[in-house]
Amino acid sequence: MELTDQDTLLRQQLFGPDFTWGVSTAAFQIEGSPDADGKGESVWDTFTAKKGKILNAAHARTACDFYNRYEEDIDLIKQLHIPNFRFSISWSRLLPNGTGEVNQAGIDYYNRVIDYCIKKGVEPWVTVYHWDLPQILEQKGGWTNREVIDWFGEFATLCAKSFGDRVKHWMVMNEPVVFTGAGYFFGIHAPGKSGIRNFIPAIHHVVLSITAGAKILRKLVPEAQIGSTFSCSQIEPATDKPRDVAAAVRADALINRLFIEPILGMGYPVKELPILKTIQKYVLPGDEDNMHFDFDFIGIQNYTREIVKYSFFTPYINAKMVKAENRKVEELTAMRWEVYPPSIYHMIKKFDAYPQIKSIIITENGAAFPDVLNEGKVDDARRLRYLQNYISQVLKAKNEGCKVNGYFVWTLTDNFEWAEGYHPRFGLIYVDHSTQQRIIKESGKWYAEFLSEG
Ligand code: NOJ
Repeated sequence: MELTDQDTLLRQQLFGPDFTWGVSTAAFQIEGSPDADGKGESVWDTFTAKKGKILNAAHARTACDFYNRYEEDIDLIKQLHIPNFRFSISWSRLLPNGTGEVNQAGIDYYNRVIDYCIKKGVEPWVTVYHWDLPQILEQKGGWTNREVIDWFGEFATLCAKSFGDRVKHWMVMNEPVVFTGAGYFFGIHAPGKSGIRNFIPAIHHVVLSITAGAKILRKLVPEAQIGSTFSCSQIEPATDKPRDVAAAVRADALINRLFIEPILGMGYPVKELPILKTIQKYVLPGDEDNMHFDFDFIGIQNYTREIVKYSFFTPYINAKMVKAENRKVEELTAMRWEVYPPSIYHMIKKFDAYPQIKSIIITENGAAFPDVLNEGKVDDARRLRYLQNYISQVLKAKNEGCKVNGYFVWTLTDNFEWAEGYHPRFGLIYVDHSTQQRIIKESGKWYAEFLSEG
């Protein structure tokens, strides 16, 4: 593969030796084997089995078969010179009933994954919760039931006690606004609930669970680095008309501030989102003291930007996002997201401005494009360019003094992209879903080359 000018400009060494490089995944999106070795059912197992929920009726019963092929995939991580591997733990593999009886086979499986990483010199970064709540707990209300804080605490305790001797980097939860918004407000993700009455209590219980989980990890694995990850997008008003500008402020509060601010001890952004006043109904005495935590790092996950317009018809926020395909954009990904590298720079700046944040790690960034396998090769020049351009923007923020200390590509192998099924391919490695064959894409080769330079 030819080196571009950007490669010379973008040498890994520009980031310094302490910058963390990695690749991210999530259990449900790669593992498959939903009933193996005593695993219980998760909300995503239930949701994917329902008609009409997932594009092309795709399911994740095999996914990337990571459950059986983890050695091969960790070998690929090693081959790509990627020093850090982020993955999540399936709650229902460890606790098939959500709480109570422990499934030793589930613990053994993650022990094997962790031990194999360590054997290969790959550092495990573990996300405790990446969206796959045990279905049995959903039947009791899931994240809308306040008892979930204790259920989650039990799961986090088990993770810390089982894996804390070897795992020194933890993320409590992944993208809370996405799994509560898509799963409990819009109903387009598991568990498919909708409406403000589900969304509001879920928000508060998730905030309390994130901080409870972090405290448990801190106590049981005191030497670990503890973080949690948040999705974010640069928000811009469609015009400079005051009502579009105000709409953008509300959208920003919902998309970028709703979870991070309470967790940093700043409370919910009620001023910009008055509907959040109704959350008070779920706030019990003492909660305010338990809603924040002093994280070692904050994971931010950025893919695109959003352009926002005032809308009379959008309840609660009177703002709507102008779809990228309906405006002039330079490039669209297979998710129909605008490719806009400065977005990651702006988000680093925005999070860096919170004085409570000590360190920022980009825990996800990447893109889906319609890759084609041609004579054994996947020439994904667009993804390669995307990664280079976004990484350049991370470097720009770092050079301006922002405390950004790591970057993880989403994702290792093409995998199950939730409601979108297998159609969007985000991997550095192509997967032939009918044979499970893995083929390193040109972007993967580039990342390997980038990471291997001194
Ligand atoms: C966010 C999520 O954490 C991950 O599960 C998802 O696949 C990627 N971003 C891409 O949408």
